[in-house]
Amino acid sequence: MLCPEHDVRGFLLLSMNTILVGAQWGDEGKGKIIDVLTENADVVVRYAGGNNAGHTVYIGKNKYVLHLVPSGILRKGKLCVIGNGVVVDPIGLVEEIEGLRKLGVMAAPDNFVLSETAHVVFPYHRELDAQREVLKGKNKIGTTKRGIGPAYGDKAARVGLRVNDLVDPERLSEKLAPRIRENNAVLASLGAKPLSFKRVLADYSAAGKFLKPFVQNTVVLLHRAMQRDAGILFEGAQGTFLDIDHGTYPFVTSSNTTAGGACTGSGVPPHRMDRVVGVMKAYTTRVGEGPLPTENAEISDLLHGMGREFGATTGRPRRCGWFDSVATRHAAMVNGIDELAVTNLDGLDTLETIKVCVAYQHGKERYDFVPNDAQALAECKPVYVEFEGWRAPTDKARAWRELPPKARAYLKAIAELSNAKLLIASVGPGREQTIFV
Ligand code: IMP
Repeated sequence: MLCPEHDVRGFLLLSMNTILVGAQWGDEGKGKIIDVLTENADVVVRYAGGNNAGHTVYIGKNKYVLHLVPSGILRKGKLCVIGNGVVVDPIGLVEEIEGLRKLGVMAAPDNFVLSETAHVVFPYHRELDAQREVLKGKNKIGTTKRGIGPAYGDKAARVGLRVNDLVDPERLSEKLAPRIRENNAVLASLGAKPLSFKRVLADYSAAGKFLKPFVQNTVVLLHRAMQRDAGILFEGAQGTFLDIDHGTYPFVTSSNTTAGGACTGSGVPPHRMDRVVGVMKAYTTRVGEGPLPTENAEISDLLHGMGREFGATTGRPRRCGWFDSVATRHAAMVNGIDELAVTNLDGLDTLETIKVCVAYQHGKERYDFVPNDAQALAECKPVYVEFEGWRAPTDKARAWRELPPKARAYLKAIAELSNAKLLIASVGPGREQTIFV
């Protein structure tokens, strides 16, 4: 799939450590780009989030949806790591590993490793996630209800259980009992049903037994891999504006989804990171609540009508809008994005005119950054420039020169406006629908 000059480029990148992040609100098509970049990596690491993420990868006629297991699992000979920064729902993880095995993809201890210090998601986290959303009423976040917020909350409050507790039946029983007691009291106060300690212990002990062979000190493992000159790809989940610090709080997830999270979530220090690749769609989407300045019914209807833009984890229709270069420029700044992969270009193929947001108007002020306050962002009106559409299918293009000139101009413009170099343009979900620029 890679043409020769890119093999050379790939070879040069072989022992580089690359962080891949979403430059928008998640669902940028990272799964596919990770899969493509994995060809030139030895190790692939998930560093944040949990099974709220859904990475879809199409290989030939097969569709793979991954939630926790790094997408690198789909290529032979790659070591896939779930780092310490991830929150792991062990029941979901076991199901995912078994589901992959049914599709002929083997996650075995020699190609898949789970950090012993990753935190564990329990049923009370999921229950609390759902109950808090109900309590918030019209101010709800629109979470995936996977218990992510409460699990990270317990981590910060220092009452969480980690993978090394999960895989030790005695420790699990000892540490779980007071957590169930406390959480049952909270759930009762919210009118929710209490959980059975025995049941949770039995389910989690079984999952712990299954997962034990995969568990290692992943910090040491990664440093040993680097000593052998292995190239590591850090697989970001969600997107920049869902970051707990840099996103549109409180309409965010509960982890550091931005590039800095790759260091804390894996134990690989900043000076060992060589480059940051940002993934963005040729337009903008978001699932869940919160401000989305360029949201637009025309493009939403168009994309949904094409059967596109439904969430991989929850199946919810994604909210869609025009490309927002204020957001992607801000993302390039926060993450230090060097290179860009633009996905879903083919989604715009039929449009006569394509709008791109170049600034926000907030009252009398013009912003060229994303205000860090959700309320202020909700009040921003996008300032657009217009591009002429190329009105031709791009999904069959396999090289830069095969793209319509107007599509190339559009890609160049959005990369320039985002302050980063264009590395990849993707024109469909397949591996072969990837153009190295
Ligand atoms: P949570 O991560 O389930 O707590 O959800 C918080 C917010 O992040 C909600 O708006 C979700 O829709 C959004 N979110 C979480 N994970 C993803 C993802 O993988 N893609 C897109 N949005 C996500």
